[in-house]
Amino acid sequence: MTPATPHTIDVALGGRSYPVWIGRGLLGDAARWRARLRGRHALVLSNTTVASLYLDRVAAGLDGLHWSSFLLDDGEAHKSFANVGRALEALARLGATRDACVVALGGGVVGDLAGFAAACWMRGIDFIQMPTTLLAMVDSSVGGKTGVNLPAGKNLVGAFHQPRAVVADIDTLATLPAREYRAGLAEVIKGAAIGDEPFFAWLEAHADALAARDDDALVEAIARKVRYKAGVVARDETEQGERALLNLGHTFGHALETAGNYTALLHGEGVAVGMLLAARLSERLGMAGAADTARLHRLLEAVGLPVAVPAGFDPEQLLALMRLDKKNTAGSLRLILWRGVGKAEIVGGVDETDVLAVLDEAVRAA
Ligand code: NAD
Ligand code: GLY
Repeated sequence: MTPATPHTIDVALGGRSYPVWIGRGLLGDAARWRARLRGRHALVLSNTTVASLYLDRVAAGLDGLHWSSFLLDDGEAHKSFANVGRALEALARLGATRDACVVALGGGVVGDLAGFAAACWMRGIDFIQMPTTLLAMVDSSVGGKTGVNLPAGKNLVGAFHQPRAVVADIDTLATLPAREYRAGLAEVIKGAAIGDEPFFAWLEAHADALAARDDDALVEAIARKVRYKAGVVARDETEQGERALLNLGHTFGHALETAGNYTALLHGEGVAVGMLLAARLSERLGMAGAADTARLHRLLEAVGLPVAVPAGFDPEQLLALMRLDKKNTAGSLRLILWRGVGKAEIVGGVDETDVLAVLDEAVRAA
């Protein structure tokens, strides 16, 4: 059967431009993605969970090439420097030449690590993203941020390295656990909240369909979010300005994730609560009205995302964690806030008293 034509969104970066394909049956549509491989060597990097479900589909498309696979154990803890070393050794065993390609099959953990290994091998070889989580389809696979965690912190080591293509086969989402799926929806909502009010209104109208994983609504939502992000990346690839807006909710969210030992909240859940806290802070600073916060609250709740700080968190500890954010400049908090739905802004010199007041209120309500 010929696969249906996917949505195609180009990330426009001159000679390094690449397509993001979104649709059904794409892993099995090797005629499409194999054309993006330049050489004869490929290393498929995945994890044990995803490989047991989908490696066969990719392997069928690699017939005739010299290829092997390298599998991580499942979990954020394995996005480590040690595993980059192991992936590079797998490339060496394969005899990978400069025209080899790394194929990242999995969620954001696999994609970030595989992209970084590709950036390092022989100072940079091709890689293709095959995201299998909603979060990876709408966010981490697009835009070329790659890297790993150190014990000192998340994503502290990395490189900008753009993929040759992104193959987002939505059939893979059928096996994605419900909580991971909802966490991905937070990243969809985030794009709309930052800079696309009509998309936000569309999400409000389709919240039930998205919560029920309706295929048509889902493909439309993924495509709109990717189109939005592709535009931002094309204008500001290395985050000199506008791209920082993509971090709406992240400073609060990372603090919540860290304070919860990365188990209380998934990344997307932290972003959901973090966006709400950013909206409340914007309200407190007179930048936006309560109606915008209420709209965000309703939409997050409608798709089943958390809207409250979990019980037992300490506002002072959260503030201390927020001080470590990469966006800060010496001695001052720099946050992404908004002037309402679709109007995010980078705001420097935010007074910690205001941040603490918002955190206090959220923790007291828990
Ligand atoms: P993940 O990669 O850990 O995947 C979540 C879980 O789903 C894992 O247990 C995984 O094995 C499982 N899984 C993946 N696909 C599946 C499928 N189709 N069926 C069943 N199970 C499946 O997490 P994630 O949310 O995809 O990504 C989070 C990571 O992405 C974090 O490390 C974060 O820092 C990174 N990230 C990077 C960027 C970027 O721009 N590079 C942006 C956002 C997040
Ligand atoms: N996830 C934020 C970015 O890609 O810039």
